[in-house]
Amino acid sequence: MEKKLNKIAKDTNKFIKSFFYLQKKTELIPPMKYGMFPGGKKIRSKLIIDIGKIFNIEYKKLIRIAAAVECIHGYSLIHDDLPCMDNDNLRRGKLSTHKKFGESTAILAGNSLLTIAFEILSDKNFKIESNTKINLINSISKCSGHTGIAGGQYLDLSFEKKEVSIQKIKIMEVKKTGKLFSFCCMAPIIVSNKLKHIKKFELIGEQIGLLFQIVDDLIDLKSSSKRAGKKTKKDMKKGKATLIKVLGYQNTVDYRDNLKFNILKKILIYGKKSKDLKDTINYIVNRSK
Ligand code: IPE
Ligand code: IPE
Ligand code: MG
Ligand code: MG
Ligand code: MG
Repeated sequence: MEKKLNKIAKDTNKFIKSFFYLQKKTELIPPMKYGMFPGGKKIRSKLIIDIGKIFNIEYKKLIRIAAAVECIHGYSLIHDDLPCMDNDNLRRGKLSTHKKFGESTAILAGNSLLTIAFEILSDKNFKIESNTKINLINSISKCSGHTGIAGGQYLDLSFEKKEVSIQKIKIMEVKKTGKLFSFCCMAPIIVSNKLKHIKKFELIGEQIGLLFQIVDDLIDLKSSSKRAGKKTKKDMKKGKATLIKVLGYQNTVDYRDNLKFNILKKILIYGKKSKDLKDTINYIVNRSK
């Protein structure tokens, strides 16, 4: 698993670097690069490759889609750390982008990473059917905006220090994190044009994203800042609405394990072809950062 993840991380970073290299050299490029490199785990990229394998999609095409997703993810982290949001000074083991470059620059670099994702997907060098391209861009847009990351981040902040139902917490976590995972799971299917599978993978993606966020919440509670590369033990202080807050630690762990079991059950029918996907799901649960 680690070896495969490292290769995918390397190839995705290489793609993003070469794409940045071809851009005009503006003042925002340094903060954009700062937010993106050396970069994070690339777990979303790994999911795209894993599902691409089930549907026999060319690796090169998948890496381009992964690069677009990682730019949107990078943008979401830069904005998530801003003083008006989570107000965090440490990200990926170094100062958050706004601490290094100032708030306004961090906002603009974040915006530019979001739009560069659409450049990557609409690029003329991406050799797929125009209609497929439009479908990819349409889907990634919905997963990023008010029905996805941005909408989820809104809920996350508005739920702070409030009593919130389990159902509402799940909806918030699916939006802020699950929707981008959902895109990762749908993208290979959009490229393959086997659209009858799309609903199933949309839901699997949401569930994997929810699983990922629950584990992130557990990491906040249990892991050290040094290990996680970001400040931990902050969610409780901020009054973040998490399943841990409502259910307690052990029930959240049980919920996590049950969710993982249900996801694994859904991919069973793909047999050997889904081994990498299964490894990724296990990695998501067992990781410590
Ligand atoms: C962190 O995501 C933000 C969440 C959605 C919980 P990751 O844990 O994937 O961050 P990096 O990319 O590895 O830094
Ligand atoms: C972030 O959730 C979700 C995003 C979409 C950025 P968190 O706020 O829990 O992520 P971390 O813990 O700061 O990485
Ligand atoms: Mg947050
Ligand atoms: Mg945060
Ligand atoms: Mg967190």
